Amino acid sequence: MIRSRIVGTGHYLPEKVLTNVDLEKLMDTTDDWIRQRTGILQRHIAADHEATSDLAAQACSRALADAGAAPDEVDYLICATLTPDHFMPSTACLAQYKTGMKRAAACDVNAACSGFVYSLQLADALIRAGVYKTIVVAGAEMMTSRIDWGKRDTAVLFGDGAGAVVIRGEEGERGILSTYAASDGSASDILIVPAGGSRQTITPENIGECNRAIQMNGRELYKRAVMSFGDAAEQALARAGVGVGDVDLFIPHQANKRIITSAVERIGLPDEKIYLNVDRVANTSAASIPIALDHARSEGKVPDGALLLFAAFGAGLTWASAVVRW
Ligand code: UT7
Repeated sequence: MIRSRIVGTGHYLPEKVLTNVDLEKLMDTTDDWIRQRTGILQRHIAADHEATSDLAAQACSRALADAGAAPDEVDYLICATLTPDHFMPSTACLAQYKTGMKRAAACDVNAACSGFVYSLQLADALIRAGVYKTIVVAGAEMMTSRIDWGKRDTAVLFGDGAGAVVIRGEEGERGILSTYAASDGSASDILIVPAGGSRQTITPENIGECNRAIQMNGRELYKRAVMSFGDAAEQALARAGVGVGDVDLFIPHQANKRIITSAVERIGLPDEKIYLNVDRVANTSAASIPIALDHARSEGKVPDGALLLFAAFGAGLTWASAVVRW
């Protein structure tokens, strides 16, 4: 049986770090408030010369090196992002060129913070259907390009970064065992960038009033996030035919430590099986799970044979999950 196995991981975080204490100087907030409500201590911020495709390309190159794969072995590059370099061309095409994936088809997926897991599901289906043998899935975000630094309710939550995985079709028991994805567009307004698209185009006349930054109903999102994590975990575990007790490591979308803690209580996972790096990187949206996976591996938390559970939720609303035998 052919399975989609993750054979390489990589991530890239921009050099510049902005701590909560730095933010105290920029807006009416405190380190204490941010720590207590989110678990975030710092975030990485892209340099002026960097855009999302630069972060994606770095992460992809590192994942290929980890896999021992040459760029021209890659058949397909999927880049999950909600902060593309441009409306067109896709960020994936720019990263494909920058990394030398000469043979690869390339496209972006926008499922907000669930984008990486959504893309993993597509890659898994394409590999198991025999369409492609080697796929790179990246999650890359320059969230600071969509932040209004005057709005403390959202500005403190996000960071920039990218993560990537190389996936190959292989015989055996290791690889992606199940995936699940869901959406509910009726709640599209609780996490939204209202202007800049076709609904509200930006003109010289309205440029001052248009909101091109993230707007969020934090409380509503919090409640829905906890429920979505629960549904996502339950569905992926059932589809893989495993129980919660079989999970060795849960790698959730790193939105907020409080949300994750509430969700795992619901799911029934002990604290020691949850991987958290939100303190170091904040919410990097679609990049969050592949960055966390690479961090977890470098800390020796993903031994061969480990059963991993990924779960994400985000704007859309979207939510998604996957179970992987490492
Ligand atoms: O990928 C999905 C991305 N989004 C999320 O995951 C966010 C989900 N939501 C949350 O995590 C929480 O709702 C937040 C962390 C965003 C906010 O926590 P909360 O406990 O829901 O706070 P709140 O919005 O109810 O605000 C409480 C107070 C307010 O002041 P008053 O009205 O009680 O005087 C806010 O104005 O905290 C104030 N506040 C802040 N204070 C200091 C809001 N943001 C800040 C801030 N620093 N950065």
